[in-house]
Amino acid sequence: MSEGELDGLDVTACERCPALVECRSRIVNGVGPADADLLFVGEAPGQYEDEQGEPFVGRSGDVLDDGLRDAGLDRGDVRITNCVRCRPPDNRDPTDEELSNCRGYIETEIDRVDPEVVVTLGKVPAEHLLERDVAVTGEAGDVVEAELGSERRRVLICVHPAATLYDPSQRDTFASTLERAADFTDETSGQSRIGDF
Ligand code: URA
Repeated sequence: MSEGELDGLDVTACERCPALVECRSRIVNGVGPADADLLFVGEAPGQYEDEQGEPFVGRSGDVLDDGLRDAGLDRGDVRITNCVRCRPPDNRDPTDEELSNCRGYIETEIDRVDPEVVVTLGKVPAEHLLERDVAVTGEAGDVVEAELGSERRRVLICVHPAATLYDPSQRDTFASTLERAADFTDETSGQSRIGDF
C-alpha cells in the first residue's frame, strides 16, 4: 500500500483504495478556514464534488448552504470535509476498508483545525467517527464526545442535508441542529453570526 502525501490539511497524493483511484477525477480535500470553529464532516464526494474538487457543491451542498445561512452562518466561515476524499463508483457508500484508509487524514484535519465542535452530516460519518451504531434521526442535535485524533472532541450529530430533500419532516431537525452548531461559535469564540450585522 503506497503512503499518502499530506501538505498541511490537503492530501496531495494517495493510492490506497484501488477502486476509488480508478473512479476519481481528483482528491477532494476539505475547504474553509484552517482554524474554523465548526468542522462539518460528510461521507464522500459525489459527482459534482469530484468534478469541482470541493465538498458539498451539488444539491446537498445547496441545502447545506441554505441551512447555514438560515442559522446565521456563512459557508466561508466553516470548514467542510468528508470521511473519504475520493468519489466511490456509482456513488456507493465507502467500504469499511476505504473509510479506514482515509481515517488518518480526517484525524489530522481535526487535530490541526482544532474546532469547537465536529458536526457529522449523515449516518456514515456519525458511525465512522463515533465507532458505534447511530440512529441519526433519533440522535440528531445531540452533542456527544469521542476520541478523535489526539484529543477528546465534541461531536454534534446532524442528518445529511439530502435527507431533507427525500423526507421533508427532517427539515426542522436539520435546521435546529445547525442552530445548535451556530451556538458553539457564539458561546466559545465570539465569531460573528451574519445576523449580527
Ligand atoms: N455528500 C457527502 O457526504 N459529501 C459531499 O461532499 C457531498 C455529498
